[in-house]
Amino acid sequence: MAQQSQSALIRWVDHRLPVFSFMQHELHEYPTPKNLNYWWNFGSLAGIVLVIMLVTGIFLAMQYTPHTDHAFDSVERIMRDVNYGWLIRYVHMNGASFFFIVVYIHIFRGLYYGSYKAPRELLWILGVVILLLMMATAFMGYVLPWGQMSFWGATVITNLFSAVPLVGESVVTWLWGGFSVDNPTLNRFFALHFLLPFVIVGVVVVHILALHQHGSNNPLGIDRKGPQDAIPFHPYYTVKDLFGLGVFLIAFAAFVFFAPNYMGHPDNYIPANPLVTPAHIVPEWYFLPFYAILRAVPDKLGGVLLMFGAVAVLFLVPWLDTSRVRSARFRPVYRQFFWLLLVDCVVLGWVGANPPEGAFITIGRIATAWYFLHFLVILPLLGKLERPLPLPTSISTPVLKGGGLAGASAAPMEKP
Ligand code: HEM
Repeated sequence: MAQQSQSALIRWVDHRLPVFSFMQHELHEYPTPKNLNYWWNFGSLAGIVLVIMLVTGIFLAMQYTPHTDHAFDSVERIMRDVNYGWLIRYVHMNGASFFFIVVYIHIFRGLYYGSYKAPRELLWILGVVILLLMMATAFMGYVLPWGQMSFWGATVITNLFSAVPLVGESVVTWLWGGFSVDNPTLNRFFALHFLLPFVIVGVVVVHILALHQHGSNNPLGIDRKGPQDAIPFHPYYTVKDLFGLGVFLIAFAAFVFFAPNYMGHPDNYIPANPLVTPAHIVPEWYFLPFYAILRAVPDKLGGVLLMFGAVAVLFLVPWLDTSRVRSARFRPVYRQFFWLLLVDCVVLGWVGANPPEGAFITIGRIATAWYFLHFLVILPLLGKLERPLPLPTSISTPVLKGGGLAGASAAPMEKP
């Protein structure tokens, strides 16, 4: 960027290491479809929440003690004695929940607008890798305060690996570093909980690189035809993202300051006790749908395979969806199934929060079957059977000519 306005120092650095040109190119001029709606805010929002989690996590780590004798007390000390420790902890705790809210919306946005389709398959796959890393990080983070749910959650989930034939028991002993969840387990979980977020940062960078290779998809799901379909990222989307961030921070602050424990479990304020099992062992809310799938099958190994399968199936989505049309706006039937899937996931979450008895077992099984049916049967079939609506000729057409048949009938938020 050989601009006159740049200082001599910036030009000197940029000539040797083109960081400023890179930023100018990728964050400033970066041509972005002009019709992105607010659902496209959630990627950058996820990035910001990731930074919030890293910063608060590092400050927590300065006061936390990863030892079974001290972990619980060190967290209580953070809450009571460390300056603003309560704030740092509540931001980190609620930040985890909000991170999942943001990323789940980000994923469903991708599913609705077909953002995983060619040429963005790798971008999507990297996203699923991020999701897996987030799950592992969140699971291990929840163990650190060493409360009752920390201990029993860790015991239940690590024990799942014992279902693996032949080597299962040895794998569990290896994971624990002993013969039960104990100090070595807590220690390694702390080390990994500290490390994995940085791995996530690395994968996010590659995620963005893959995004910038072909640019963002958009609500119409059609490719850009030329410069008239794009606007520079800055100031248009920086401002829109900042507005979204403001709205997010209001909701986030409402929880942090007025209901900081709403999304947590009260049992985690009881120190871990290997001799007393809680009445109901439940994971954090964002794992509940997967927990329901795990318990949908009476067989342990079957449940474990299904639970991992529920995430693994996401890797295949770009190929399971055989439709050539990306956006659900032009896929009237897929659109119905999309909403059904969303309801299905909420039902799974509700079942996961309840004890596996009576009607919950039946509902859990139906909802689990529907989840897999959606991806493995409905998606491939719909691509062949559904008749999509006519696509606009370009992103600008529906705006300039007032056309875009289906665009006009879409919800106001989606209007380009
Ligand atoms: C730490 C978590 C994540 C971060 C920071 C992140 C970041 C971003 C950003 C900044 C964008 C561009 C803005 C946008 O389209 O919203 C994006 C796009 C995208 N992300 Fe993510 N992402 C994350 C997780 C995921 C996950 C879990 C998936 C899917 C499983 C995913 C799939 C996608 C797809 C398909 C796009 C392209 C969307 C489009 O162009 O329509 N991302 N991501």
